[in-house]
Order: sequence, then structure tokens, then C-alpha cells
Amino acid sequence: MNKALIAITIFLVILSGILWVKVANLENQVEDLNKPSLYDTMTVMQTVVHKIAYAIDNENSELLDFYIHELEEAAEDLIEADLVYHDQPVGQLTATMLEPTIEDLEDAVEAGDWDRVRDRNQVVLQACNNCHVSTGYPSIVVKERAEVNPYNQDFSKRD
Ligand code: HEC
Repeated sequence: MNKALIAITIFLVILSGILWVKVANLENQVEDLNKPSLYDTMTVMQTVVHKIAYAIDNENSELLDFYIHELEEAAEDLIEADLVYHDQPVGQLTATMLEPTIEDLEDAVEAGDWDRVRDRNQVVLQACNNCHVSTGYPSIVVKERAEVNPYNQDFSKRD
């Protein structure tokens, strides 16, 4: 092999090494970007749970279906990402503690049994707060609602 060929070969080996490191870094960054932000997801859940309370007050199953679906999607984001936050398996806990309670709420709405809906909604809230205790955030306590409806939104049935 002549010297030029050796030099080119060495150059290419080094170049591919550099590119490999860059690609690996980019892959890591894309993975981080795709991870849901736990804080944002929790803020969404808080809002949705709050609105669910008003929709239940109005026994508005159409609106409830909408919000329950949003809550499920937020939970799915954490589960699918298998999110681990400060060593806490948040994704797995969401699947075991929260998701079944949302499904029970959904079933109760489908059955049109409003006493059961109110009851199941309390169980969802308990699951939220239980997980805050389990993950080391016992000071985050979510309630069904604030004292007055703070939304610029009318939750009553449209018919
Ligand atoms: C898998 C465990 C888990 C479940 C289930 C869970 N949370 Fe959380 N939640 C956390 C953790 C961990 C934090 C702290 C997140 C952080 O530091 O950003 C948190 C933070 C919060 C916060 C504080 C963020 C803010 O915007 O003030 C609120 C509110 C909240 N959760 C509401 C809820 C609601 C509502 C539910 C139920 C529908 C729920 N959470 C279910 C683990 C959970």
C-alpha cells in the first residue's frame, strides 16, 4: 500500500469514529426530547381531573368521555415511555396504580350509574395522591375541585 492510501484509510477510520460518537449523541438527545415531561403531564392531569368534577356535577357523559380520554392519553404517555423519574418507576406505577382506576371510571360512565361514577372518581383521586406518597411527594395533594368554578367555561349539557 502506498503512503497516500494508508493516510486516507487512517483518516476515514478516524472520521467514522467521530461520526459514530456524534450519531450516538444525537440519538440520546432525540430520546430525551421524546420523553414526556412529568411536570407538564401532571399539570395536564390536574386540569383534566378538575374539569371531570364539573362534568360529573352536570352528569354530562359526553363531556366526561372527552376528559377521561384525555386523562388516559396523559397516563399512556408516561406508561409508553416507561418513564423513570429520580429512580421512581413512574411509568410502571401509572400502569398499576392509576390506569385501572381510570378504566373503572369509564365503565361507570358507560353504565350511566352516577353514584358509581362519583365513587370511582374518588378512587382515581386517591390513586393520584397514593402515587405522590409512593414517589416521595406526599405534599402534592390533589382535590376534586376548588371552592368555586374558576374556569371561563360552562360545563352544563348542550341539548
Ligand atoms: C406514577 C405516580 C403518579 C401518579 C399516578 C400521579 N402522579 Fe402526580 N406526580 C408524581 C410525581 C413523581 C410528581 C413530581 C413531578 C415533578 O417533580 O415534576 C407529581 C406531581 C404532580 C403535581 C405537581 C405539579 C404541578 O403542576 O403542580 C400535580 C398537580 C399532580 N402530580 C397531579 C396528579 C394527578 C391529578 C394525578 C392523577 C390523575 C396524578 N398526579 C397521578 C407522580 C404521580
